[in-house]
Amino acid sequence: MPIHEPHPSTSLDPGVDRRDFCLGSLVAGLALACSGCGGGSTVAAESGPVPTLPVTTTDTRAALLATPDGTTRDYRNQGSFFLVKDATGIYAITAICTHLGCTVGVPVSGHFLCPCHGSQYDLGGANLVGPAALPLAHLEVTEATPGGFLTVNPARPVAAAARLS
Ligand code: FES
Repeated sequence: MPIHEPHPSTSLDPGVDRRDFCLGSLVAGLALACSGCGGGSTVAAESGPVPTLPVTTTDTRAALLATPDGTTRDYRNQGSFFLVKDATGIYAITAICTHLGCTVGVPVSGHFLCPCHGSQYDLGGANLVGPAALPLAHLEVTEATPGGFLTVNPARPVAAAARLS
């Protein structure tokens, strides 16, 4: 049975308001529910923050375009996504598994692997091995200011072929 760290907002700190407490309880409950969702896995269903607002990265378009194809930047702790560079440009892809919402791991040999029930996706997000039946969503990525850091908007899914070049 996985051990879950208590969410900071579940303390009795008088500085924590009711909304934060309820949100923390909801997140903890979802994580606990997912950890018991079957499949024989003993890996906790860890999820990064569920993003709702655009996230500013620490990557620029020019710098990322200069990297080898297949370069991946891990933004799971900031907004549950990855930035990826391929032969046609840059894209952002969610790290949230389409099966039950666990966070996939960093790519290994060009595949994202979900630790909960073993779903696998290719670097473009296509679902290769179930139980996930859908691909990982691609997200809007923009250069907010010319030459500035890239911004990813998790609330705006885009076509899998969309690229920033
Ligand atoms: S949550 Fe079940 S395979 Fe990812």
